Amino acid sequence: MTEHSAGALSERMVGQVLEVAEAASVWLGGRLGWYASLHGDGPATAEELAARTGSGARYAREWLEQQAVAGILVRRDDERYELPAGHAEALLDVDSPACTAPLVRQLVAAVLQLPVLAEAYRTGEGVPWQAFGEEMSRAQGDANRPMLRHVLPRVWVPQIPGLPARLAAGARVADIGCGHGWSAIGLAAAYPEIEVDGFDLDAAALEAARENAAEAGVAGRVRFHRADAAELTGGPYDVLMLIECLHDMPYPAEVLSAVRRAAKPDAITLVVDEAADPVLTAPGDEIQRLLYGFSLLVCLPDSLSHPHSAGVGTVMRPGTLASFASSAGYAGVESLDVSDTGIWRIYRLVA
Ligand SMILES: C[S@@+](CC[C@H](N)C(=O)[O-])C[C@H]1O[C@@H](n2cnc3c(N)ncnc32)[C@H](O)[C@@H]1O
Repeated sequence: MTEHSAGALSERMVGQVLEVAEAASVWLGGRLGWYASLHGDGPATAEELAARTGSGARYAREWLEQQAVAGILVRRDDERYELPAGHAEALLDVDSPACTAPLVRQLVAAVLQLPVLAEAYRTGEGVPWQAFGEEMSRAQGDANRPMLRHVLPRVWVPQIPGLPARLAAGARVADIGCGHGWSAIGLAAAYPEIEVDGFDLDAAALEAARENAAEAGVAGRVRFHRADAAELTGGPYDVLMLIECLHDMPYPAEVLSAVRRAAKPDAITLVVDEAADPVLTAPGDEIQRLLYGFSLLVCLPDSLSHPHSAGVGTVMRPGTLASFASSAGYAGVESLDVSDTGIWRIYRLVA
């Protein structure tokens, strides 16, 4: 039974302040290069850390003590502070699915815009993705990198009927709303016969995507285009995917119409989006709470920054997707039984 006492909420808010303050300390450690130094150069005293990273020793001492008190760093007998290997992975290893530090960076980028968001809430207008700054875009790329570069090709694709064979045969793939390109790159690296076109509106993300593709050695088969998903060109494609982006788009039914037009009749079209409950359940579990958190701060305001937007927000329920797909001329939407999708669900659009 839910307790609605002042005391319970009061205690909960103190807990929230504690979590936010510690998340902010994680952000500082990342931004100042302190975690990277403790990992790369080894344990340090405050003076050593400050000297290595060109920062203030008194601040470094306070932060090191706070990190040890919070259980993130370990204080050793020689008074040096150590970053345990597991914590280094969660904080610094950009290719590990355990690396959730970019979510902290996204949250901070969003919270910095709270006054702007409050004004938008008053007027009903939006706050565009660009208003959150390049750090939001970079953090978005880093947040999804491990899942899209590694888990998508190795774990998800083999569980999707017909997809491995299609890719192995040398498919033309469209990655719509590709962001920093990790899904395109991950698939191209795993399937040497495919060619991928990535589409997005975010110029900075596309530039990074091109660099990422070159570094990964797949630039010859992966091209990135600045284009609105509602005006997709370059088809027909064998495989089309929209990963964590349809709910951000102001005109999702129009986008799906464009996707359908760009697809071969027997194409495999996948939408990977947040695992929103089919109906509003309140109180909700941690996933639903997280989705609403990002919806309030980022996705809904971004979507509402376009005239006559559908205003979907992060919590795109299966029924909402089905109605967009139906308006776009699809016969239906299947929710696929794929494991290890984290906070996402994978849908297949049925032509
Ligand atoms: C949450 S990000 C996801 C990016 C990438 N798929 C990933 O999972 O990392 C949503 C992306 O959709 C892009 N986007 C939003 N509206 C778009 C549109 N109308 N056409 C193309 N891309 C769009 C944004 O620029 C952004 O890169």
